[in-house]
Amino acid sequence: MARFDAYDRDYAMRVLITYGWGRTGYVVAQALTALVPACEIYVCGSTLLSMTRFSRFVKKFFLTPDPDMEPEKYARKVSDIVNLNGIDVVLPVYEDVFVIQKYRHFFTDNIEILSPGLDRLEIASSKWSIIEIAKNVGVAIPITKAPRDIDEALISAGHIGYPLLLKSRRGNSGKEVFFIKDQYNLRQAWHKIVLDNCLNKNDFPILQQFIFGKVFGSCFLADKGKLIKCFTEEYLHCHNGDFGASTFRVHCNWPLLENYTERLVRALRWTGIGHFDFVGSREKDSAYLIEMNARFWGALKLSLGNGYNFPAALISLLIYKTSPEEFFIPPSKGKGFKPCLWLAGEMMSFVNSFRKQKFSCIFDFLKRLQITGISGLYDDFCWTDPLPFFIEILYFFKEFLRTKFASKPVKREILK
Ligand SMILES: Nc1ncnc2c1ncn2[C@@H]1O[C@H](COP(=O)(O)OP(=O)(O)O)[C@@H](O)[C@H]1O
Ligand SMILES: [Mg+2]
Repeated sequence: MARFDAYDRDYAMRVLITYGWGRTGYVVAQALTALVPACEIYVCGSTLLSMTRFSRFVKKFFLTPDPDMEPEKYARKVSDIVNLNGIDVVLPVYEDVFVIQKYRHFFTDNIEILSPGLDRLEIASSKWSIIEIAKNVGVAIPITKAPRDIDEALISAGHIGYPLLLKSRRGNSGKEVFFIKDQYNLRQAWHKIVLDNCLNKNDFPILQQFIFGKVFGSCFLADKGKLIKCFTEEYLHCHNGDFGASTFRVHCNWPLLENYTERLVRALRWTGIGHFDFVGSREKDSAYLIEMNARFWGALKLSLGNGYNFPAALISLLIYKTSPEEFFIPPSKGKGFKPCLWLAGEMMSFVNSFRKQKFSCIFDFLKRLQITGISGLYDDFCWTDPLPFFIEILYFFKEFLRTKFASKPVKREILK
């Protein structure tokens, strides 16, 4: 697209960020302010209580149907928004990237959609396929099996050994990952995943060896299989303690993860951003690949706040066709990397622990708050733009009421 130039002051490129209800879209909007005035930021979301709608970084918000419940209508609406508002670039932020790519034909060819095509997305996001790819390029993986039915699952589980994990091939935030202690557990969880989600044989869940260790992430930008930049992080606290979306994390400098990331992006011939989950031990320099997220990751603010602006770098690489190096400026030596907290996630985690009568969690919560500090990094709070945080809280509170106080008040995503 020769029309766009980072230094062109006469034409502001219009970027539409999707999935603006949550913090990831919000952080992407924050990140793109680095490109203003060469770019105008628009957002869409499926609820009027989308936090990004209330951000001062955003020029205009559009309401859409829910991408999981009404995928075709969603894609149609996004394409209408694009046409009616002269949008040049669509930046799908979350799992809706699958819907947008499935209905790519709703959009004209001159609209840039910043994500790989559907085939690549599906391979990368299948926890089974990515493990197979990793195995072939020498990346350590947990023993993983794809049983054809519950009887085969029971036999495979015997070989792997308990405890193990049963998980859907696609998922997020730990919603369809079950910790399995024994055969009884396995039967129950198997039927729950398969029946609740009406899975057909090709989508049956996988069994995976449980790796004792900590959870790490590797966030990256790649171009045609070449790793451009990698930011590695450790998850210190998650929504359900050790499981689920991370709520508190720090940067970690771990060459092994960078090496694995390099091999994986080369094997995938990946262009764009992405994120790998690993479980392992830094002390033993041993890590196992768990999954790939072929879209922006939940802890995006950690990298952004520490000088790694992946969203702006992505636009620089794919739209401006210039080197994205200027968007990667790590903290100077004396300063060090800051930790990052998801405030609303911590609050939900705190409420859940409290309900399980784990009252001491308040001290842990306060400790993490103190470490992050007043001027620290928060996924969902920023002093110069405070309103989105209150809208996020309002949204979760509304969902708590609607789901009659479910432990994680979010809808189920489609797992197939
Ligand atoms: N093989 C494993 N060994 C130990 N823990 C695991 C393993 N697989 C997943 N986990 C834990 O479960 C969490 C969610 O699993 P993951 O496969 O990443 O699912 P999701 O797509 O829901 O994020 C991980 O972040 C990690 O804490
Ligand atoms: Mg994960």
